Amino acid sequence: MDTFENISELKKRIESGDVTIGVIGLGYVGLPLAVEFAGKGIKTIGIDIDTAKIDSLKSGKNYIEDISDELVSGVIKGGSLALADNFDGCGECDALFICVPTPFTANKDPDISYIIDAAMKISHNLKKNQVVILKSTTFPGTTEKYVRPLLESSGLIAGEDFYLAFSPERIDPGNKVWTTSNTPIVVGGINQISTDLACGFQRLAVSEVVPVSTPAVAEMEKLLENIYRSVNISLVNELARLCDRIGINIWEVIDAASTKPFGFMPFYPGPGIGGHCILIDPYYLAWMAREHDFVTKFITLAAEINEDMPFYVRAMVIKEIAKQEVTLRTAKVLILGMAFKKDVNDLRHSPALKVAELLMEEGITNISYHDPYIPEIELKGDVLQSEPELTATMLGRFDIVLITTGHSVFDFELIAANSRVVIDTRNACKGIESGNIILLGEGK
Ligand SMILES: NC(=O)c1ccc[n+]([C@@H]2O[C@H](COP(=O)([O-])OP(=O)(O)OC[C@H]3O[C@@H](n4cnc5c(N)ncnc54)[C@H](O)[C@@H]3O)[C@@H](O)[C@H]2O)c1
Repeated sequence: MDTFENISELKKRIESGDVTIGVIGLGYVGLPLAVEFAGKGIKTIGIDIDTAKIDSLKSGKNYIEDISDELVSGVIKGGSLALADNFDGCGECDALFICVPTPFTANKDPDISYIIDAAMKISHNLKKNQVVILKSTTFPGTTEKYVRPLLESSGLIAGEDFYLAFSPERIDPGNKVWTTSNTPIVVGGINQISTDLACGFQRLAVSEVVPVSTPAVAEMEKLLENIYRSVNISLVNELARLCDRIGINIWEVIDAASTKPFGFMPFYPGPGIGGHCILIDPYYLAWMAREHDFVTKFITLAAEINEDMPFYVRAMVIKEIAKQEVTLRTAKVLILGMAFKKDVNDLRHSPALKVAELLMEEGITNISYHDPYIPEIELKGDVLQSEPELTATMLGRFDIVLITTGHSVFDFELIAANSRVVIDTRNACKGIESGNIILLGEGK
């Protein structure tokens, strides 16, 4: 068969769902994607180098909150999702989705070593007509300058023998409305055939696919999405601090501004940003820009403002301790919510953890926390277990109760009624009239 025949045969198989999908990296992005394909009866191979994750899934334990345990165990038992801790099965796949982490280094430079590792391992098994789709968030140029040459080290030529595209992930863990299947996805291939094929594979799992002209456009648009959030959150964080200084309630200001039906979108202040995306992505772009003698001043300033918020919250805690008959050494602080955002079990770069560390550094060592999603944390070398239950008696033991993540399961009436002082960094106690609540940005 010539290339044209191969492609039209592959397109027909994509349309009928008679294809095999490989998903590399089964974390917050990869597992829901793999389950989405497998749930539609498409033969899927999930690959992760973390053997513990593979074993956990094989034994029926699902670690991603957003997908149901029954769905995960159903596709595994039913045989549509096979699992492996090696890349041996890659050769069987028509499309390979790379969903590995893209963290930053201690100096906040991009660390794309996981992408490099995955691409190298794919190259050892790469076959003609396979389509490789990078989904990990990264700086513009990664697909063309890093992934492409690694895959071509197999001897096959990108765009001719195999196909390559970037298609950023938009999953929002904890979001019950917008999920893997109904959130539109952008796709940019290295040539038209790559884009068409990658779009075709994505359509099997996602309702709307938006093609763009190049992988770099897709890489950059993903950074725009996340940096847009970082910049707007930093704006309200700065305004919250100003409002605290001048005695205006930022939350009321944002609610009032939100009544404008066009040209305004609300963002809210908080103890800082965390997770694997919004905190990291501005640094990916700033790093890449420097290579081109360009300094992303505005974007970097926004990231700095956000990263200063845990320090601001520490100052709020110290101020409230100073008003009580306790010292920094004796004060008992309960942190409510350790995850980086509400209703998820993700601790990565959590501002709550940062606040806890900063309090410890200040000599506030009597720290406890409660988070039903995070059973234990490591704090300055010690392992701390979550307080088992949120009760009136338990709340009464603490001098300060600090709300860092407003999980929906928390009973904020109970918290307000039974705590000496509540420092609320999320407006989680909105609507509760109680003199013991100190709200970030309330202007008091
Ligand atoms: N978490 C989110 O909400 C989210 C949203 C959009 C985009 N993203 C992006 O998606 C990517 C993945 O994020 P995540 O949150 O799913 O990460 P994660 O850490 O939850 O999962 C990544 C998985 O990849 C595995 N892995 C690492 N190296 C590997 C390799 N060489 N081969 C096979 N498996 C490997 C890890 O063991 C892990 O299970 C990142 O680039 C992130 O920025 C994440």
